[in-house]
Amino acid sequence: MIVASNLKTNLTRAQTSSYLMDVENFLDKTNVKQEVLVFPAQSSLAVHAGQIYQGAQNAYPAKNGAFTGEIGSEQLEEFSINTILIGHSERRHILGEAQTLLVEKFHYYKNLGFKIVFCVGEPLEIREEGEGVMMKYLELQYEGIDTSYENLIIAYEPVWAIGTGLTPTLEDISKIHLALKEKSSAPLLYGGSVKIDTAKDILACEGVDGVLVGSGALAVENFCQMIRIAQDLEK
Ligand code: 13P
Repeated sequence: MIVASNLKTNLTRAQTSSYLMDVENFLDKTNVKQEVLVFPAQSSLAVHAGQIYQGAQNAYPAKNGAFTGEIGSEQLEEFSINTILIGHSERRHILGEAQTLLVEKFHYYKNLGFKIVFCVGEPLEIREEGEGVMMKYLELQYEGIDTSYENLIIAYEPVWAIGTGLTPTLEDISKIHLALKEKSSAPLLYGGSVKIDTAKDILACEGVDGVLVGSGALAVENFCQMIRIAQDLEK
């Protein structure tokens, strides 16, 4: 399974380095064989050797250039980073990134062979309009993406579940995941308020190939425990 930690705008460079080291030590010690991804804050990216895939939370679809505040593929190459998160709901909704820009990023980083974690998810008002409207909304977030890209991972993260402590029922997670799997056979992660206490049940859901965790993975021991849970379940 795939266990991913999105550190968002948390941890300094030193704290991130120690986080990564703790996870590597855990993986070595336990011989756990799960795919582990960590997305540090941009300023904490650094060369990293080990089992973890270190990924960028965002990057501009260009090698370099006049894109103030952004980083491009040249800055990622410096650290041998070839994993990227695209379309996270915080970028869609807080930073206002439109599908067209996300599609541009997708193709730019696909052409470079990156492992891409592409996020989709509906806000509460859409969910409240019923299943049909919700699925249509999610469908539009797949538009323009090559859903058969070999290095694609999709993360379903309902916007209303992110950082709120709320999660859909296990039944709903399975149902939505199975429906989304009809659009792409890429591994499908669930994200949104995954915690130690809920990780096992969520990972065990039909259609769930892993989790993308924010606040619940900020403490490295919790993240390691989730990796262990995935290992014990090993589907
Ligand atoms: P939380 O786990 O804090 O809800 O965040 C989820 C998320 O956005 C992962 O990308």
